[in-house]
Amino acid sequence: MNIAETIAACRAARAKFGVLGLVPTMGFLHEGHLSLIRRAKAECGAVAVSLFVNPTQFAPHEDFARYPRALGRDLEMIEAAGGDLVFTPSAAEIYPPDFDTRIEVGAVSRRLEGAVRPVHFAGVATVVTKLFNILQPTKAYFGQKDAQQCVVIKALVRDLNLPLEVVISPTVREPDGLAMSSRNSYLNPEQRAAAPALYAALQDVAARYGAGERNAEGLRKALRDRLAVIPDTKIDYVSVADPDTLEELDQLTRGALVSLAVRFGATRLLDNVVLEG
Ligand code: PAJ
Repeated sequence: MNIAETIAACRAARAKFGVLGLVPTMGFLHEGHLSLIRRAKAECGAVAVSLFVNPTQFAPHEDFARYPRALGRDLEMIEAAGGDLVFTPSAAEIYPPDFDTRIEVGAVSRRLEGAVRPVHFAGVATVVTKLFNILQPTKAYFGQKDAQQCVVIKALVRDLNLPLEVVISPTVREPDGLAMSSRNSYLNPEQRAAAPALYAALQDVAARYGAGERNAEGLRKALRDRLAVIPDTKIDYVSVADPDTLEELDQLTRGALVSLAVRFGATRLLDNVVLEG
């Protein structure tokens, strides 16, 4: 497995491969990340993984400094999953002192997460563009867990004609339904025990949709009611939106993305389900 810390070393290592899948991550890997790595390996034959806790997608008050890190363990997990190339740059390598360019995707990056975290998606779009340019992947793999991030990246690739294919892979869950996330490690035992209620609430909405409910506000209310009874939490948003534009819907005529963000103390958890049209 090639491990590159500099852009020059990464480009040199990348040149050894033809078709290449890329899985961008912030490290502290779990089974969700590994599912992307294994899929990229199976579909592309060679897979690169980036490990970079990207400072520009965190606001000053957010968890950049305490974001969990475990480089040695991550490298072992990537190797076992078939990784060929790992890019682990420093912040100075990605953002030298004279760095002065931002990539901003429009409306889809301002809703939902973007409304709560205004700088977040410009940071994501900028670092992902850099990673695409450095690693020149044939395909890049992202998790449905971060549904809005998927929409933003697809818009970025479409609008800037980036020469790669974006592949979205299903959310990997704990046995009790909680979506796997590096941030789950912040939860105390009481919060961890309560957290599966998020997915249960989403499944309840999916069941209502299956039973014929097509009124979006009815579904949002059902979701809010289910979330309101989880102790010591705060709802950031619940959304029943068009899966492409992320605009809130009135009636569900062709499916929807149902998504939520809930705070357990200082920890924000996200989850979503797609209702097929
Ligand atoms: P990170 O949170 O480390 O996630 C890396 C990738 O793993 C993302 O595409 C994310 O959607 C996916 N992922 C996370 N949890 C998952 C789960 N339970 N099931 C399936 N996929 C899952 O997302 C980021 O990093 C960053 O914003 C990044 C794109 C790397 C840019 O800095």
